[in-house]
Amino acid sequence: MGMKLAVFASGTGSNFDAIMKAVKNGTLEADVSLLVCDKIEASVVKKAQQHLIDTVVFNPKCYESKAAYEEVLLKDLQSRGIDYVILAGFMRLIGPTLLEAYEHRIVNIHPSLLPAFPGKDAIGQALEKNVKVTGVTVHFVDNGMDTGPIIDQEAVRVEEGDTREAVQKKIQQVEHKLYPRVIQSLPVKEESL
Ligand code: GRF
Repeated sequence: MGMKLAVFASGTGSNFDAIMKAVKNGTLEADVSLLVCDKIEASVVKKAQQHLIDTVVFNPKCYESKAAYEEVLLKDLQSRGIDYVILAGFMRLIGPTLLEAYEHRIVNIHPSLLPAFPGKDAIGQALEKNVKVTGVTVHFVDNGMDTGPIIDQEAVRVEEGDTREAVQKKIQQVEHKLYPRVIQSLPVKEESL
């Protein structure tokens, strides 16, 4: 049944939905085994329920450190045999506990052509600089902010007079196709060992 994925998200979950759609139509041969979310009110939690995906919602404030909650998450990931952690709008940096256990098996999507515009509000940063081309990057996660090895990228043109919403829409359309495709191309367990 392909690889087992855990999606980590904090927000709307449009990428989560796109991944679920790709799984259902067979273009992504994977099993989304778990959604991990750090915000109880995030819409992605409802989306996971609609898709009948097991969900872990945790409040980071209830733990004394990042290592403490990551330890708990790691046990859960390992007991479910999760192959890849897919970050889809997860608004927290991943710490050494998960990074060491899942080296080259944590993937992120970022709404710019990295290394340009890392961090928060990448679309706002791009508009501020008046760029004519921005885009989407999928990369492995390392201990920096949006700095890990790039797996794939796709460009998006910014036309004269494009509003922020217009650029965001174009970026999302690209994300929803690119992310499932890149996940499908990730090495399966036997090859990555
Ligand atoms: C996406 O734009 C992604 O690139 C960024 O966070 C956003 C998540 O959006 N990392 P959604 O929750 O999947 O709609």
